[in-house]
Amino acid sequence: MPAGPLKGRIRVPGDKSISHRSLMLGALAVGETRVTGLLEGEDVLATAAAMRAMGATIEREGDGSWSIHGVGVGGLLQPRSALDMGNSGTSTRLLMGVVASHGITATFTGDASLSKRPMGRVIEPLSRMGASFEASPGGTLPLMMRGCLPAVPIEYRLPVASAQVKSAILLAGLNTPGITTVIEPVPTRDHSERMLRGFGAELEVEEIDGERVIRVRGDAELHAQDIVVPGDPSSAAFFIVAATLVKGSDLVIENVGLNPTRAGLIEVLRQMGANIEELDRREVGGEPVADLRVRHAQLHGIDVDPALAPSMIDEFPVLFVAAALAKGTTHTTGLEELRVKESDRIAAMAAALELVGARVEENGDGLTIHGTGGEPLSGTPETLAVETQLDHRIAMSMAVAALVSRKGVAVDSAEPIATSFPNFHALLETATGGDA
Ligand code: S3P
Repeated sequence: MPAGPLKGRIRVPGDKSISHRSLMLGALAVGETRVTGLLEGEDVLATAAAMRAMGATIEREGDGSWSIHGVGVGGLLQPRSALDMGNSGTSTRLLMGVVASHGITATFTGDASLSKRPMGRVIEPLSRMGASFEASPGGTLPLMMRGCLPAVPIEYRLPVASAQVKSAILLAGLNTPGITTVIEPVPTRDHSERMLRGFGAELEVEEIDGERVIRVRGDAELHAQDIVVPGDPSSAAFFIVAATLVKGSDLVIENVGLNPTRAGLIEVLRQMGANIEELDRREVGGEPVADLRVRHAQLHGIDVDPALAPSMIDEFPVLFVAAALAKGTTHTTGLEELRVKESDRIAAMAAALELVGARVEENGDGLTIHGTGGEPLSGTPETLAVETQLDHRIAMSMAVAALVSRKGVAVDSAEPIATSFPNFHALLETATGGDA
């Protein structure tokens, strides 16, 4: 039986991207950085452990409240053992950037999912800055790297739209003499730029011929900050889609970060007919934030503009679920990057949605989904379960699909959800009144 409506008010945990950066920049600053609203998911805890292993003092003082005593830019110490990055690509790639301009050697390891993901995209620019690498075949983890002191400033045009690659280079630039420049033909999330400025780095962003040119001055001095982390729009996404799909829903999600480089899903859902209202728009920690009131609406299929992809790159799995319930066909293109996330999210979602009775065609760079027009999905057949492939967002997307399915959805493991959203199930129970 499909679930009951989502009602009331909920608050999702802190933004994952901002939480990682708070710990890293706090550890590179001079003085005590205090963070509230930090996401305490496994990915962020992997970053905390790595910064501790390199000399920072990081303490949890209460729910989401953390204190970081930094070592200053250039002050990181040689870690004594391998840095275990778990499932976290952001921890790995950004920390590779941090290490690249320190005179230390570090080994990065990760789980089976992370060990398949391409690191060549950061190895290449960081090598140009002088770091050296011994990676596993295909440029993957485990890998060992040697930072370079002094590193060499570069000007680098991103060949893939990736905030992780951009951030790795900017972080490496902090301890590099001179100006390090990253050129972004397609804008990606800009939390690193906002936060680096907040910590006192000299960072300039200019638009030249439609490209974003970001320059950071090296030998930077970062000053400790008080940071309030806004709610994660990528976590809110599951509840936005769930409340849109389940009849009778009227849910307020408080304190959702609405940085324009992250808000693509809301725009696309509105184009499909969603009813999402922004209440009390304000600023939290230098980021735009609002409470979102989401009411059930019948969606219709659209061609999703590929130019919006970077601003909703982590939201496609749950958008695919929304499309599966829409009236008509939704067509997505330009999503090659989804194939190198925690799983191949195009293939994983095609298989998952087919298993629960949706009509899906897999293309090289996206999915075409023929929606049910609001009719519930059938759900997983008995004895079969969705393969989540160590990917939290596949597991949560299919939990949303379960709410609009006749027989429910079984997944092989819900454990990966702890990487980004430890209280996901508890919140879903709260919102559905225990009916999820
Ligand atoms: C992130 C950037 C994105 C995103 C990831 C977090 C970040 O990755 O998918 O979840 O915090 O910089 P890419 O840079 O690979 O697009």
